[in-house]
Amino acid sequence: MGRLQKILIPFLGLVLAFCFYSARENFKPEMLKGKRVIVTGASTGIGEQMAYHLAQMGAHVLVTARTEAKLQKVNGGLDMLILNHVGKSYFSYFDGDIRHVQKLLDINFLSYVAMTVSALPMLKQSGGSIVVVSSMAGKVGFPFTVPYSATKFALDGFFSSLRQEFSIQNVNVSITLCILSFIDTENAVRAAADVLLMSPAPKEECALEIIKGGALRQREVYYKYALTKIPLLLRDWAAELLDYLVRQHYHVERPPAA
Ligand SMILES: *[C@@H]1O[C@H](CO)[C@@H](O)[C@H](O)[C@H]1NC(C)=O
Repeated sequence: MGRLQKILIPFLGLVLAFCFYSARENFKPEMLKGKRVIVTGASTGIGEQMAYHLAQMGAHVLVTARTEAKLQKVNGGLDMLILNHVGKSYFSYFDGDIRHVQKLLDINFLSYVAMTVSALPMLKQSGGSIVVVSSMAGKVGFPFTVPYSATKFALDGFFSSLRQEFSIQNVNVSITLCILSFIDTENAVRAAADVLLMSPAPKEECALEIIKGGALRQREVYYKYALTKIPLLLRDWAAELLDYLVRQHYHVERPPAA
C-alpha cells in the first residue's frame, strides 16, 4: 500500500498538471491578425524580430521611439503595447556614476510608466495587453549590470502592483512581464560574450515567445525556461546558492574593461 501510494500520488499529480496545461488556450498566429500593436525599441535586437513576426502574423505594427509623445497621436486605438527599449549602459563593476543611474531609470523605467499611462485609455477600451520586456537581472542580482538591474527590478514592482489593482478594479488589461536569459542580440553579445560562460539563446525564438505570452495574456514569460524559471525556484529558499551559481557563470579572472 505504501509503495502504491508513493507511485500513485506523483502519477496523479502529473496527470493533473497535464490536464491543467492542456486546458490552457494554445497560441495561434491568427490571434494577432488585425491587432494594433506598438513595439518600442524595434530598430535592433529582440524588438526588431518582434516587428517581423507581428507583420507576418498580419498585425498592424507601429514601431516607435521611446517617448509617449508619438503615442498621444495614435488615435485609431491600440490592442497591445510592447515595451522593449533600453538605454545604453556599461557591462562592468558599478562605477558610482549616479547620473548614469538616473538617466537609465528615465529610459528603462520612467518612460515605460509614461507610455503605459498614455496608452491605458485605449487599452481599456480594447481589452488590450501590456507586455514588458525584462530580464533575469530584474529578478536576481547579477554582477556588472548594477544600474540596468535596478531599472529592471523597478519594472517588476510597478507592473506587478499595477496588475493587482487591475484585478481589484476589473480592468481588463493584461500585463505580461518577460524574464529573459542571455539572448544573442548584437548589443548583449558585444557586452557580455567574453565574460558570461554560457551561450546566448536565439533572438528570433525569444521574440516569438514574448508575442505568444502577450497574446495568451500570461502573467510572466520565461525564456529560456531552463535558465530562468528553474533557477528562480531557488531564489527564495536558497538565495546564497543561487548567487553562487550565478557567479560561476562569470569569467571574473578577466574583469571587463571599464
Ligand atoms: C478581456 O479582454 C479579452 C481580450 O480582449 C477578451 O477576450 C475577454 O473576453 C475580456 N474579458 C472580459 C471579462 O471582458
